[in-house]
Amino acid sequence: MTSEAYVWVHLPGDTRPTLCGHYTHAPTAAGSPVGTFVYGRSYLANPDRIPLDPVALPLRPVTFSTTALNGVFGAIHDAMPDDWGRYVIDKLQGVKAFPVGYMLATLDDSIGNLAFSAASTSAQSSWLPIGMDLLPAAREVLLGIEQGQPVPKELEGRLRPNTAMGGARPKLTVEHDGRLWLAKFPSTRDDQSLPDAKLEAAMLALGVLCGINTAKAQVVLGDVLLVERFDRAWVDGPEPGWRRDSFLSARTIFNASAGAQQTYAGGGYGRLATELVRYSADPQADQKELFRRMVFNVCISNTDDHDRNHGILADDQPGFYRLSPAYDLLPKQHSTLRRFQAMTLGGAESLGTRENLLADSTKFGLSPAEAEAIVKEVELGVALHWHDCLRAQGLSAAAIDRLKPCFSGIPLTAKDVDQAIESRRNPR
Ligand SMILES: Nc1ncnc2c1ncn2[C@@H]1O[C@H](COP(=O)(O)OP(=O)(O)OP(=O)(O)O)[C@@H](O)[C@H]1O
Ligand SMILES: [Mg+2]
Repeated sequence: MTSEAYVWVHLPGDTRPTLCGHYTHAPTAAGSPVGTFVYGRSYLANPDRIPLDPVALPLRPVTFSTTALNGVFGAIHDAMPDDWGRYVIDKLQGVKAFPVGYMLATLDDSIGNLAFSAASTSAQSSWLPIGMDLLPAAREVLLGIEQGQPVPKELEGRLRPNTAMGGARPKLTVEHDGRLWLAKFPSTRDDQSLPDAKLEAAMLALGVLCGINTAKAQVVLGDVLLVERFDRAWVDGPEPGWRRDSFLSARTIFNASAGAQQTYAGGGYGRLATELVRYSADPQADQKELFRRMVFNVCISNTDDHDRNHGILADDQPGFYRLSPAYDLLPKQHSTLRRFQAMTLGGAESLGTRENLLADSTKFGLSPAEAEAIVKEVELGVALHWHDCLRAQGLSAAAIDRLKPCFSGIPLTAKDVDQAIESRRNPR
């Protein structure tokens, strides 16, 4: 059965959405579903129009189709609820048909500038972020949902937990100090001895000390991380409200290929650096920043650096983007000394070694010497500050000790890693 939705876009600076086009999703005899998208004629005639994705969905009067990402264009996929959002919808409203059921069942709080509706007459119901006063109750409600409990009756009107913000951890959008924040809550699945919120706040602060543009964050209520939303800003004027800026994930970038039938294409840091040339208002600066982030992720053992944990945000120059501030930075403990990154580093390699980090430096517009200097600088920054950053967030000495192996220096080659593992197994 074909399902369909209207797609709305917040044009640059606008607090209200503009109808942009029509999306359909249908099964095919061959198995993989196909998605189509067509821009509306009046949208294409709008002088302020912007593309949903300048590469995969340029502003043309044609019907685009895709089989990539299960028939959901990357830009639309980015605006849909992800693991957590779909989990909440399934629990509270029953399982929906993918993807349109989830597009329409969700809060209008997704990252970026898109909204969806079943009718062309108006966009999704208007959505309001929760205030800080509701944060303690939200914390309990989200933990309760994981244990099969409904939203308490007295909160039903005020607290709608079906967020469209991506990722797997419990989250909601909160208004605080005139800004919007992504609140990341504790989960019943957490390792109770490691406080995720404090750990992530510490890594975002450590990133700044290593020269990385990270999202601003603070821990509240002891275990809730507030990360300032970089894709929203309040606008006064005749139509006061939240401005929404376009965002595309690296997964979307990897699958973009104008109008073509596509199959899923993964990618690595080198490929993302190359693709930035097509999107970025300042590719050279973004490539350099991406290289630094790649090195940083290896240095802190953030091996969950997958292609939805990188993205680009609309630049002031319409149609162009810049790397978004870095987010979701967390060290992962590994029982072996092998740190395999979620995106490849050098060529097809994903093992975090100096050799792999330096293998593709030219794709980042860096000479070998410049790349080497960044590796050294970031490695030193992490070595000097990781401990203090964790302590500043109040992590216990025992927790810091457990995390110590995550911050040990970068091995030179894969062979060095093998040797280190061998000598640990058979100490002389
Ligand atoms: N500061 C921010 N402003 C706007 N959007 C953000 C911000 N931080 C994260 N996002 C968006 O929200 C999504 C979820 O955030 P995040 O990756 O921190 O959550 P997570 O549940 O820990 O993810 P994962 O499943 O990768 O562990 C991101 O993929 C990104 O699209
Ligand atoms: Mg994430």
